[in-house]
Amino acid sequence: MPVAEPQDDTNVVRYEVSDGIAWVYFNRPEKRNAMNPATNRVMTDVLDEIEFRDDVKVLVLTGEGDAWQAGMDLKEYFRETEAQGLRGVRKSQRESYGWFRRLRWYQKPTIAMVNGWCFGGGFGPLCACDLAICADEAKFGLSEINWGILPGGGVTKVVVDFMSMRDAMYLTLTGEAIDGKTAAAWKLVNESVPLDQLKGRVEELAKTIMEKSPSAIKAAKDAVRRVKEMTYDNAEDYLVRAQESANFFDNESRKEGIKQFIDDKSYKPGLAAFKRDE
Ligand code: COA
Repeated sequence: MPVAEPQDDTNVVRYEVSDGIAWVYFNRPEKRNAMNPATNRVMTDVLDEIEFRDDVKVLVLTGEGDAWQAGMDLKEYFRETEAQGLRGVRKSQRESYGWFRRLRWYQKPTIAMVNGWCFGGGFGPLCACDLAICADEAKFGLSEINWGILPGGGVTKVVVDFMSMRDAMYLTLTGEAIDGKTAAAWKLVNESVPLDQLKGRVEELAKTIMEKSPSAIKAAKDAVRRVKEMTYDNAEDYLVRAQESANFFDNESRKEGIKQFIDDKSYKPGLAAFKRDE
């Protein structure tokens, strides 16, 4: 694993854009990419910079080195901000929770590409991403209990939302780390693949999503998150309005999608997406 030079505040997150994918890296490999206040601030700026770029269709969040990220930085996020009193604590919480929230409702579809360690606070961005693919070699754990706290910062909420109560409770109370295949079986991620296939699989998934109408993708991903909290009738009403509002941004896609199937017979929606003019 390459060991980075001592870091200034700006390179704790880096990104590159290629073929429609923004690859965003946690970039403190020598600290296993633990999230310090600088990471939280720079990540907010990076998310701002790329959200509405026309050349970004999908965002992939990953880590440099052998960690995805080792959760909150125990020294800089906890100890040093606590030394500043409640004002410091609340500020650092706002900065981290703020970008997790941005990511949950991001304009572009997001994929967590979990290449290694993923602990504690890392479950926030993990579950904020729309999809997650990990390496079999990755390790996931709610290590909070091992150093004497409960999983805060929304972590307990997201594990209960994503996993069964039994699995969430097991991770929470034991602090044991599970591997990628177990994380997939427990529905914390979509899939687990060998590390040497991870990037290829994520590119393939990103390409599949990129073929669809971007406005439909945004409306659909928000709908999945929103309806989870709703009664059936509220969800039905929300979905009618969400589709009508999506039509405001793009009223042609679905008409074209219907036409290519019914009139042109050029594709089958059950098997693929219709051809879109870029
Ligand atoms: N906060 C602060 N520093 C961290 C960190 C974290 N969450 N995770 C790793 N680091 C630092 C270590 O202190 C060490 O720093 P040093 O080189 O100045 O001594 C460096 O990163 C490398 O960590 P190390 O423990 O030597 O790496 P490893 O590969 O042997 O082990 C982990 C990796 C992830 C298993 C281990 O670092 C770990 O348990 N980290 C804490 C995970 C955690 O509890 N996170 C939840 C916070 S909510």
